Amino acid sequence: MSKQLILALSKGRILEETLPLLADAGIEPAEDLGKSRKLLFDTNLEDVKLVVIRATDVPTYVQMGAADLGVAGKDVLLEHGAEGLYEPLDLEIAGCRLMTAGITGAVPVHARRRVATKFVNVARRYYAEQGIQAEVIKLYGAMELAPLMNLADEIVDIVDTGNTLRANGMEPRELIADISTRLVVNKASMTMKHARLKPLIGRLRDAVATRR
Ligand code: ADP
Ligand code: PRP
Ligand code: MG
Repeated sequence: MSKQLILALSKGRILEETLPLLADAGIEPAEDLGKSRKLLFDTNLEDVKLVVIRATDVPTYVQMGAADLGVAGKDVLLEHGAEGLYEPLDLEIAGCRLMTAGITGAVPVHARRRVATKFVNVARRYYAEQGIQAEVIKLYGAMELAPLMNLADEIVDIVDTGNTLRANGMEPRELIADISTRLVVNKASMTMKHARLKPLIGRLRDAVATRR
């Protein structure tokens, strides 16, 4: 195992909030991530490199050990599963809620509720726990459209301000989980590279605490 540490970052809205936090913890990319088509970046720390990838791919990279650490939304982690991963730190950024939602005032009538979502595992688990029969329909985005088009009775999606739901005549229903962004660490790396990881996680923990 190399001495190098690879940190996998979720691109998109999490990245914008991650970079200042990393800077506070003393980790800065060697170049502007936004201005480059590169995916693998050096940092100011000789032994730390960054990869910037799709949020849903972060748990896979870390689980398989291609990256030692990762930054990922709890929603993505719940959907992916936590096998092979430690989750030592809540970074307390990109806070939102994972909820069910439906057309405002509409009451689900189908015996088997049609649920559109990109979080199919979370949705199946949730409806089963509630004792509700559900047919889960996999979508890759714009879940809020599905009930309007009568593709589904409900959706499972991220809610923050509620603006997207309101703009589409929908209302939030049940809370499934409070979501924030987490630091994840490969289990083997945590043992093999503990001496290097421990201070790094400690600095991130301090950076999070300082912002509270
Ligand atoms: P994607 O293209 O996968 O939706 P995003 O850039 O929207 O990527 O970021 C997705 C992550 O950001 C989610 O996994 C979640 O943790 C968080 N997130 C998504 N939507 C919101 C929101 N409206 N407010 C705050 N955090 C959000
Ligand atoms: C996310 C999420 C909701 C919306 C919720 O979408 O999927 O649609 O934000 O936020 P709100 O409650 O503040 O409106 P995003 O903007 O990430 O678009 P996407 O479909 O490209 O993921
Ligand atoms: Mg999004």
